[in-house]
Amino acid sequence: MNSAPRVRKAVIPAAGLGTRFLPATKAMPKEMLPVVDKPAIQYVVQEAVSAGLQDILMITGRNKRALEDHFDRVPVTEQLLEAKGDGDRLAAVQHATKLGDIHYVRQGDPKGLGHAVLRAKTHVGDEPFAVLLGDDLIDERDELLTTMMEVQAKTGGSVVALIEVDPSMISAYGCADIEPIEGEDYVRVRELVEKPSVADAPSNLAIIGRYVLHQRVFDVLEDTAPGRGGEIQLTDALQTLAASDGEGGGVYGVVFRGRRYDTGDKLSYLKAVVTLSCENEELGPDLRKWLGEYTAQLTE
Ligand code: G1P
Repeated sequence: MNSAPRVRKAVIPAAGLGTRFLPATKAMPKEMLPVVDKPAIQYVVQEAVSAGLQDILMITGRNKRALEDHFDRVPVTEQLLEAKGDGDRLAAVQHATKLGDIHYVRQGDPKGLGHAVLRAKTHVGDEPFAVLLGDDLIDERDELLTTMMEVQAKTGGSVVALIEVDPSMISAYGCADIEPIEGEDYVRVRELVEKPSVADAPSNLAIIGRYVLHQRVFDVLEDTAPGRGGEIQLTDALQTLAASDGEGGGVYGVVFRGRRYDTGDKLSYLKAVVTLSCENEELGPDLRKWLGEYTAQLTE
């Protein structure tokens, strides 16, 4: 048993250009696209805070000011709502501000996910940390991150979240070759490949956007050459750690079978919005009723 320090910090890379959503993202960060009634990024910050990670570092870039504004106070609006006695809206507006202690650093050059994570080195320091990618929303009823932090504390290595995908879909993800560990519900990762071709993929286990990493990943990232797409890939750095012994070596996987909502492309995003809206207490009943009528009409 390792006595790894407790994970306290979350890193949220949010420097991507949102090209898949153009023109919606021409003047607005993709992280601000609304999912039901909140920007997508707020779900991710909420998830980190719910797992006990109050200290959040966002890796941003040019044209991402709306992210900082969203998690900041908005005095004029707050005063207006207060004067009107609109307590519910005031609470909703203030909720984002009170979530956690959010810090920002810019990525600078867009050199890939590994490069973005490396920008967190100074802030994170000498302790394990979580990375949450904004394109994946994990249902708040499924405590994936907490489980991953437990596995990190137990193994002292790094932990990735995996899902089983249809083999034809594996090229959209990092892919893991794994072996079971007797008596444990997590697995050992033998090999990681970033977006392999279907023919070369070692399995149908895809990496999704949750990681709990040993700080040694920073040193490895510094020595990681650009990989797929000419970018510094986090997957490549983790492959180095998977093949390495000693402190901070080893990569483990938690196979996630819970509810995940992908907001990474237009169609998945629409499905996520419809699913979460249907489950929303206020909007769900009416929306479900209307959807039933609408889909009946479509099949007529
Ligand atoms: C990144 C990672 C990839 C992972 C994916 C999960 O890719 O590089 O390994 O499977 O996130 O969402 P991206 O989707 O940023 O291209």
